[in-house]
Parts: sequence; C-alpha cells; structure tokens
Amino acid sequence: MAAGVLLLLAFCTRYALCDDYFKMGVNTNSAEATQFLREYDREASGMCYRVTMSQWKFVTNITEYNRRRMLEELALSSKFEKLSWRKAAAYDASRLSDPQSRRQLSKIIQASRSSLSDEKFTEIHQLITEMKEIYNSAKICPFGQKPYDPHVPRVSYPTDFPETNRGYQPYQLTNQPYQHYQPYQENPEYPNYCDMQLDPEISRILAHSRIESELLYVWTSFRDKTGPKLKNRYMRYVQLANEAAVNTGYRDAGDQMRSAYEDPSFRASVEEIFNQVAPLYKQLFTYVRRKLVLRYGETSVRPDGPIPAHLLGNMWAQNWKSIMDLVMPFPQAPNIDVTSDMLRQGFTPLRMFQMAEEFYTSMGLKPVPPEFWRGSMLVRPPQRSVQCTASAWDFCNRIDYRIKQCTEVTMQDLISTHHEMAHIQYYLQYAEQPQLFRDGANPAFHEAVANAATLSVYNLPHLQRVGLYQNKTHDPYEVSMNFLMSMALEKVAYLPFAFMVDQWRWSVFEDGVQNMNTKWWQMKLRYQGVTPPIARTEADFDPGSKYHIISDQEYIKYFLATILEFQIFDQLCTVSGHSGHLHECDIYRSRDAGRLLSEIMQPGASKSASDIIRSMTRGKTNRISPESLVRYFRPLELWLRVQNRDEQIIGWNSNYHDVALFAPQKASAYKSYPSVLLLIYLIVLF
Ligand SMILES: *[C@@H]1O[C@H](CO)[C@@H](O)[C@H](O)[C@H]1NC(C)=O
Ligand SMILES: *[C@@H]1O[C@H](CO)[C@@H](O)[C@H](O)[C@H]1NC(C)=O
Ligand SMILES: *[C@@H]1O[C@H](CO)[C@@H](O)[C@H](O)[C@H]1NC(C)=O
Ligand SMILES: [Zn+2]
Repeated sequence: MAAGVLLLLAFCTRYALCDDYFKMGVNTNSAEATQFLREYDREASGMCYRVTMSQWKFVTNITEYNRRRMLEELALSSKFEKLSWRKAAAYDASRLSDPQSRRQLSKIIQASRSSLSDEKFTEIHQLITEMKEIYNSAKICPFGQKPYDPHVPRVSYPTDFPETNRGYQPYQLTNQPYQHYQPYQENPEYPNYCDMQLDPEISRILAHSRIESELLYVWTSFRDKTGPKLKNRYMRYVQLANEAAVNTGYRDAGDQMRSAYEDPSFRASVEEIFNQVAPLYKQLFTYVRRKLVLRYGETSVRPDGPIPAHLLGNMWAQNWKSIMDLVMPFPQAPNIDVTSDMLRQGFTPLRMFQMAEEFYTSMGLKPVPPEFWRGSMLVRPPQRSVQCTASAWDFCNRIDYRIKQCTEVTMQDLISTHHEMAHIQYYLQYAEQPQLFRDGANPAFHEAVANAATLSVYNLPHLQRVGLYQNKTHDPYEVSMNFLMSMALEKVAYLPFAFMVDQWRWSVFEDGVQNMNTKWWQMKLRYQGVTPPIARTEADFDPGSKYHIISDQEYIKYFLATILEFQIFDQLCTVSGHSGHLHECDIYRSRDAGRLLSEIMQPGASKSASDIIRSMTRGKTNRISPESLVRYFRPLELWLRVQNRDEQIIGWNSNYHDVALFAPQKASAYKSYPSVLLLIYLIVLF
C-alpha cells in the first residue's frame, strides 16, 4: 500500500498543504484519521520525552554510557518516525473536515525522509552522525615554531594589543615572516600538544589575536581537519537526501527544506529581503575594510577589494563583534559593557536567571515552573565533562523545562540568559497545543521571538532602569553610535552569511556536487565580499567547516529570524507606546507588549507564519519585512555614509587574483585573455 502511495506522490505539487497528494491517499475514514492523530500525539510526546531526557543526560554528563543510551533512544525514535509516516501517508487528508488535523498530517509527512528504504534511511542517519563526530573531534596544534615546552616562557602580546583581550596567550613567535602553511605533526612526545578545539581555543584566537600569520594558521588548520574528511560523506548524504525528497514529491532536498515556510515563491521572497538590506551591509563593510587596511596594511587588505575572511574575528566571518576594538566609532566614549557593574553589585548566575524571569513576568507573562529551578544546569558543574553551549529544553511532558548554560557573570551571559528564558516562555505559551504544533510558526520564529525580547535588554534605557548603567557623563550620541556599531557587527554583518549558506546548499541539491568548493567561495565573494586568505581547491571542502552544513540543519531560518526579530520588536514597541528611536525602546513592564508576545507565541505552529504576522501587525502585512531592521540602524547608516564619502566604492571590486584563489582553472584562462575575460568575470560576479 505504501508503495502505491509513493508512486502517486510524484504528481503532487510542491507545497505544504498539498491537497492533490492527500486526495490520492487510500484511507478516507476521517474518524480513523482523527483517532490516529490522537494516538500519535500521545506516543510522540512520550517518545520525545525519552529522547530529550537521554540527550540531556548526555550533554550534561558526557560519558560513553550516556552516549550509548542516547543513541539507542534515537534509534527507537527513528523507527517510530518511519512507522508513523507510513500510517500518515495512507490517509486522505482532504476529506478531513478539521483543518488542524489536515495540518498535523502534513507535518508528519513533509519534513521526513521516511520514504527511503530501511537501509538508506539508516545510512543517511549514520552518515550525519559520523559527520558530526568528525567535526566535533577536530583538533589542531597551537601556532608557533616549537612544540609546547612548559619550560619555555610564553611571549607577551604586541604592545598595541588591548588589555581586555589578553585571555588567550599566543605561543612564541620568531621574526621570520610566515610564508607557508605547515601543519604540525602530532608528536607522541607531547600527547596533549595538538588539542586545540574550535570552542573555545580556536574561536578565542580568531576573536582576539591581531597577528595575521596566526589568524591564517588557525583558519586554515581547522579547515584541513574537517573538510577533506567530510567531503565524500557529504556527497553521499546529498544523494540520499535528494532521493528521499523526490520520493516524497519534492524536486530535491532543498525544495523539501523550503516547504516548511509555506510560501510558493519563497526563494524570490528571501532574495528580495536580502536586496533590501544589502546597501546597509555595504556601508558597514566599506567602513570596516578601511579600519582593517589601517590595522593590517594595503598588502593584506585591498582598499577597494573584498576582505580576506580570517581578519573579521570569526571562523566564518559571520559575526564581527570581536573586532569592535578596531572599528569603534568613538573610542573616547564607552562601549556599553555592564560586566563590571554586575560584578560590583555581586551578581550571581542564579540572580541573572531570576532577573530574566522577572523581565517576562513584569510584562504579564508566565513564571517558570518549580521543575525549571530543580532540573536546570545554570553553571558549569565541577568534576564532569559537559557541553557548554547555552540551550533551552522542552521535555514534551508539559511539566519539565530546563536551561543548560555555563553562566558566568558577564553582560554577554546576561543577554544570553534573557534569550534562553524567552525560548522557555515560548514553550510555556504553546504547551496546550498538540505535540506537532509545539514549535514556532515557521522555523525562523523561535529565534526571532527570543531575539526580539532581548533587543530590549541590551538597550541603555533598560540597563539604566535595572540599575546597571549609571554613568551619564558621556555624550549620548557617541554612546549611541558605539552601541549601534556593536549591534551592526553582530546582526548586519551576519545577514549575507546567513543568506548564502542555504543558497549554496540549495544549489548543491539542485545542480549536483561538482565544484562545491568553488561555488561556496563564489557565493562568499558575491554576497559577503570575502575571499579565502589562501588558495583553495576542490580537495578542500570549506562548507564542511560550518557545523550546520554537515549536521543537516537548515540555515535560512537564521537569516529570516534576524530580519523578523526587528519586525517583532518594532510591533512590541509600538503597542507599548514607545516613540523615538527604535534602538532606545524598552518593553520591560509593558503589559501590552506582553499580551502581543503571548498572542504570537500561543498558537505555536498551529497557524501559518503569514497568519501570525498578519495578526501581529494588525492586518498591515502578512510577510516578513526588513523595514524595521533598516530603521533601527538608520542613525548608524547616516553616520557611516559620512565616514565613507571619500571611498572609491561602497562595496567591493573583485579582480582575477581574488577569483584565482578558489577557481584556479578559470582564473588562468582569464589571465591569458585578460581583456575579454575581465569583462566576463565582472559580469558574472556582479
Ligand atoms: C553521569 O553518568 C554516569 C553514567 O555514565 C552516572 O553513573 C553518574 O551518576 C552521572 N553523574 C551525575 C552527576 O549525574
Ligand atoms: C563616568 O565616565 C567618566 C569618563 O570615562 C569617568 O571619568 C567617571 O568617573 C565615570 N563616572 C562614574 C560615576 O562611573
Ligand atoms: C498575503 O496577502 C496577500 C494580499 O494581501 C495575498 O495575496 C497572499 O495570498 C497572502 N499570503 C499568504 C501566504 O497568506
Ligand atoms: Zn536561541
């Protein structure tokens, strides 16, 4: 029976509530369907509880035993998924009178790869698990000339290195210029020598080191330790993911991933949003490039060119906030950081969580249940190994909600605490929905809502209200510009990256796995304006340096979430009666903002994103719009325009040297016929 259904699926049109497909279902008994969904809800919640609990036990107590238990639960859950998918695919949802049941059935079917044979279904899950393990175990050797010797003292920093950035100690450097990348061999005499991991060591170097050769070294080494080992597995994964998608009625796996957005012209919508924010990005880019030229010189950074990707403070050049020290608009005014005030006032992690809870209850939202305080892991526990990435957990039983965060008393963790608490609030708000709807309205909503709430917490007016920023002696305009710059380095710099990751992924699903690395860098250059700092070939697999690529997690949601968070924030500010600059709005204690947040959260995924946006904007629009984001940064954009007025170009020109870094053959052809191909390249690239 299932095979017959699959054959017919191929004629189904592509999007979410695919009525054609459901008409072709075999079982038209709507009472049975309702009964099935009721049972599914009970079993899926139970399954979800067990899987989540086993994952929690593992990440808060990493042992081989806990890992095995988790993998066992995951295997059971895959079996359940496959079985439920077969049952759901047999129904004719179009005959169901209840649209919510129809929506639930389509959710079971849409995103699943259960249409694969048992062997292939197991294989793709196995591949993803292996790729994650390879990625998570990548380690590199420290930068320097000699293996680590505890008797050799470590060097001091260059004299212009900021005091606050000295958490990381670089190894001894010689005066010889760095010429070739030479990986250190694992040395059996120093078994713990080559043990630098992405988090925290490598990330810390990229964030804080201003020594170009060292940045280049860690940038390249991490890619060498991941990409080549992942490439073949990734290619097989692409094949299987596509097969599953085609079996389910989609054109390819990208098409299947996009279906979660319930928008038939999704690609065009996303591109339109990107084009609206690109001018703001280019202003920021141009200003930052000039500061990098000042720091590293014109031989490293061409004044009208793209930026080499290792100089922006981050492994993927996706978040530039670590180079704030190089680009601060008004160095004499402070960059708002209330960490020292928090320390002075004796803040503890527990107090930070209580403060975050009070932020939401002050708006009339729900307090967290007692189980939250009993079960959460709020600080790094002594004497056991844990994963420290902050996350919020819903155990699917309407009782147990937890946060895992190795909280330290810093401003960054205060923001993160409010962010994770917003996820918990979302869970509490949609708790009464069936399991399939206990989720955001589309994949972007959870992050968008959590970030919208925290946009209020960063603000000077809020920090003053909670007694964390008292100094009023500085020029408020200068303080504002510094603040907006730090926000732009985090949010605006991120947009082209968050946009290009899935552009690349979709193109691989659509056009195949040839020249994957060249394609990656073409898109990096086109959208972000960054180039690799060293030549790349197809033996490299640089997309594999990004966890979300190899772990099979879609990424466009982060792009949309960043846009949507400002749109939601704007609406919350409007109903709370705020007037004036958007970046100065604080929704703390606003019952009206709380009511609106609750309206956005409560339906979970039972309504489409467009319905929720329509009601959130009181009917003005049903689409995600970047207008609020652009308005939020408007004062900074005006300032940037003035700073950039003498630049030759706002944005970047690329030349054949740039292209030669990642597309050697094309570039050499281009070198032999410069005049003709120069033109062609300029056309292709812009
Ligand atoms: C960690 O997991 C092990 C099982 O591998 C268990 O025996 C131990 O009690 C756990 N520790 C804590 C603190 O939960
Ligand atoms: C405010 O900042 C100024 C300049 O940095 C400093 O001189 C002054 O002591 C600060 N005042 C307070 C109350 O922290
Ligand atoms: C959004 O609204 C427009 C017109 O207001 C309508 O044509 C369109 O179908 C709506 N989109 C969705 C997804 O509801
Ligand atoms: Zn989050």
